[in-house]
Amino acid sequence: MKVKNNVAIDGPAGAGKSTIAKLIAKKLGFIYIDTGSMYRAVTLKALQKNYDFDDHGALARLSSEVKIELFSGAQNDFRIFLDGEDVTEHIRQPEVSRHVSLVAKIPQVRKNMVRQQQIMAQTGGVVMDGRDIGTRVMPDAKYKFFLTASTEERAKRRHLELLQQGYEISLDTIIAEIAERDNIDQNRAVDPLVPAEDAVIIDSTGLTINQVVELIVKHIDECK
Ligand code: CDP
Repeated sequence: MKVKNNVAIDGPAGAGKSTIAKLIAKKLGFIYIDTGSMYRAVTLKALQKNYDFDDHGALARLSSEVKIELFSGAQNDFRIFLDGEDVTEHIRQPEVSRHVSLVAKIPQVRKNMVRQQQIMAQTGGVVMDGRDIGTRVMPDAKYKFFLTASTEERAKRRHLELLQQGYEISLDTIIAEIAERDNIDQNRAVDPLVPAEDAVIIDSTGLTINQVVELIVKHIDECK
């Protein structure tokens, strides 16, 4: 039974999930939770401490030792703290993006993150975005969406974001990195990136952010 009014938004890198999830949360008066930021925070810590990314046992232990705190303000100005330090901007570094899927594929890391995410979802009234939200974290979510777009379009969006943040990376590099991350996310043994059976799939190629938000809100209104 779908008792919760929660909204799950999954999809590959650069599909616009976080921008759209924030706008949906604002419209509904819900709390926005970016689950990818948690995997990014563990990855940032591992990079800072020079972890070997093949040492799954050490990375799993690290994921249970770090303290991750998420804050979603009234304007959905989402922030993440790692061991007491605000790392909201740091976790977007290309170096973190390059390594995060290697950390997120480790089953024990996922177990630790999913446990925390499920506690956050318990109250209801949350919009959560990620890769396994509709399939693993909130299988009972009332509304599930899977956002996708062509690799080219997703890479262009990410390229623009990174340029705005002051990172000089070529579009070709981003296309290759996004394809590599999708490949690891889709093919990992535990909770791979795949649409939930009951998810509404939205291909946002050629659509504006507002058009996607409207599609989602319309669907939620129709199902109420
Ligand atoms: O924003 P972007 O699409 O680049 O990715 P993200 O949502 O910040 O997620 C970063 C990475 O974390 C993904 O590529 C996945 O490897 C992992 N992730 C995951 O495995 N499960 C989630 N629920 C969220 C993210």
